[in-house]
Amino acid sequence: EEILFLRISLLSWYDKNKRDLPWRKISSEDINQRAYATWVSEIMLQQTQVATVINYYNTWMKKWPTLEALAEANIETINEAWSGLGYYSRGRRLLEGAQKVVSEFQGQMPKSAQDLEKKLPGVGRYTAGAIASIAFGEVTGLVDGNVVRVWSRLRAIGANSTLPEVTDLFWQLSHQTVDTERPGDFNQAMMELGATVCTPKLPQCSKCPVQALCRAYAKAESDKQSSVRKI
Ligand code: ADE
Repeated sequence: EEILFLRISLLSWYDKNKRDLPWRKISSEDINQRAYATWVSEIMLQQTQVATVINYYNTWMKKWPTLEALAEANIETINEAWSGLGYYSRGRRLLEGAQKVVSEFQGQMPKSAQDLEKKLPGVGRYTAGAIASIAFGEVTGLVDGNVVRVWSRLRAIGANSTLPEVTDLFWQLSHQTVDTERPGDFNQAMMELGATVCTPKLPQCSKCPVQALCRAYAKAESDKQSSVRKI
């Protein structure tokens, strides 16, 4: 029914329309490497636009291609590589996390969202969900600003999304809805939809793969109809 339609429509839209981003090119064979690449990219993406992150990500991965390489870095070089991205603690925590993975976990990243959040410095609920679903295929949802906007419109939720109980509702919705075969792609597709189609201003509803499910769209259409009738 509705959930199945959402998953299928969103994933086939994503397959055709996803942006060609460097962190999406890592082969799925080396899972630990994929987890490292996902970790770096998602930390960079937290407060910074995709277009800016691309160059920083490529430079970072050339300098420190693996977790082991990063663990050997010194903080001055990290800060230099981070220069321009802002929020330098994000870079420092990546270094600390890499050192911890090498010294305490034999170079193997924690695999579940729960362990990632518990064991890695700087990895919160969002980043843990991203690494677990994208790199390890855990069936777990995630919520960022894009996902909040997409859900708010799909369900016509007007409540203030910074309230903890409202945030929890979005997390619940995401966990319930994430595709069980392709959780990482589903999560990225939700963010991609929010970033490229379901934008804050002037959303491009005519291009939306889930327009048929969208309560905000339906409401806007019916408001239009009733204002026509009044004329
Ligand atoms: N924003 C943050 N992470 C993202 C991802 N993996 N795909 C699309 N948008 C994102």
